[in-house]
Amino acid sequence: MAKTLNVVELECSACGKKYDASIEQHLCTCGKPLLARYDLRRAAATLTLDSLKSRSRTLWRYAEVLPNDPPVSLGEGMTALVHVERLGASIVCGQGGLQRLYIKDEGLNPTGSFKARGMTAAVSRAKQLGAKALAAPTAGNAGGALAAYAAAAGLPAVIVMPADTPAANVMECQAFGAKVVKLNGLISDCGKYVAEYKDREGWYDVSTLKEPYRVEGKKTMGYELWEQFGGKLPEVILYPTGGGVGLIGMCKAFDEMQEMGWIGTERPRMVAVQAEGCAPIVRAWLAHQSSSQFFQNAATIASGLRVPGPLGDLLILSMLRQTKGTALTVTDDEMLHAGRELASLEGIFAAPEGAATVIATRKLAASGWIKPEETVVLFNTGTGYKYAEAWQRALQPAGGGGL
Ligand SMILES: Cc1ncc(COP(=O)(O)O)c(C=O)c1O
Ligand SMILES: [Zn+2]
Repeated sequence: MAKTLNVVELECSACGKKYDASIEQHLCTCGKPLLARYDLRRAAATLTLDSLKSRSRTLWRYAEVLPNDPPVSLGEGMTALVHVERLGASIVCGQGGLQRLYIKDEGLNPTGSFKARGMTAAVSRAKQLGAKALAAPTAGNAGGALAAYAAAAGLPAVIVMPADTPAANVMECQAFGAKVVKLNGLISDCGKYVAEYKDREGWYDVSTLKEPYRVEGKKTMGYELWEQFGGKLPEVILYPTGGGVGLIGMCKAFDEMQEMGWIGTERPRMVAVQAEGCAPIVRAWLAHQSSSQFFQNAATIASGLRVPGPLGDLLILSMLRQTKGTALTVTDDEMLHAGRELASLEGIFAAPEGAATVIATRKLAASGWIKPEETVVLFNTGTGYKYAEAWQRALQPAGGGGL
């Protein structure tokens, strides 16, 4: 007999309308994303720091708060949380710099980015729901991850990406056997393409926030931080924000933890870091707005941050407000410079998106927003190995653009 699904229901993040989780669901009728709800009292009875000690070192260790389908897994999650002391000391902040600075290195996931987390959950659920083919628009890494997990699930995938997506992302999708569609445009155009063809072609739409389970996989970053800090959370989290799924997921995890009695009302202050060339969330934040506006002519070397109209804008902005966080931009040159610093000081070869958080930390420490004694976590969301084009630019001699 099939196991009963542990997702009790799906709930609209905007209007609260409830949906049946046992059938395929995408957006609410109001157009906003759905979130999965569990019986958290029941989950808390077995999900404890102690019980976690003997579980598999993948994100599926948090089984009680993930859909209980047979996992399509490639070993994702439980990435290293690295104490970056030299980098911390180099940051101007009080006497000794930032002594409690950490990097959560998501580049260590299968397919080299945190996108693996979302896709293991979404693909596992889609397979169980009988999906025949999976499709998604992508800025790059999500496509690679979807293609890999679709292959692992034995399902075909269609990946729609901007023509100027980093070459490594195109190659990995092709290698995983996916059909790759390249468009002259941005991820928003790719999203329209999937929306237009999905019904006719019978695709299950895995677009960011247009199905409820990528958030579920991504929220495990929040659970891992709690576990890796021995049952505590850091004071500040800096997160390179494109669609914002990681940020939304982590905040959802913290709410669940509170409901399970693991933490109180305190929250890490969430910081959305965006590229100067594509910063819809930062603009809305600075203008004290609760929704964002489409960012015209979006352009940045950090392909994952080139998301001009994030569907989760309301959620991201409300989470920044609720956690007393903030949002700020960095330039492409700053990211490239920071990438070299991070690599040479700490041995971490980061994606430009991850490097962006280093510069943002410097800015926030200099302004006094981050205090010397605070525990601060930066998310390196992807490996630098997939960004040959950006790294070539970063490594040009001084004056050539990189430094
Ligand atoms: C390396 C990297 N960092 C950050 C992001 C943005 O992710 P999110 O949608 O969770 O904001 C992406 C998205 O493509 C990415 O590939
Ligand atoms: Zn709704």
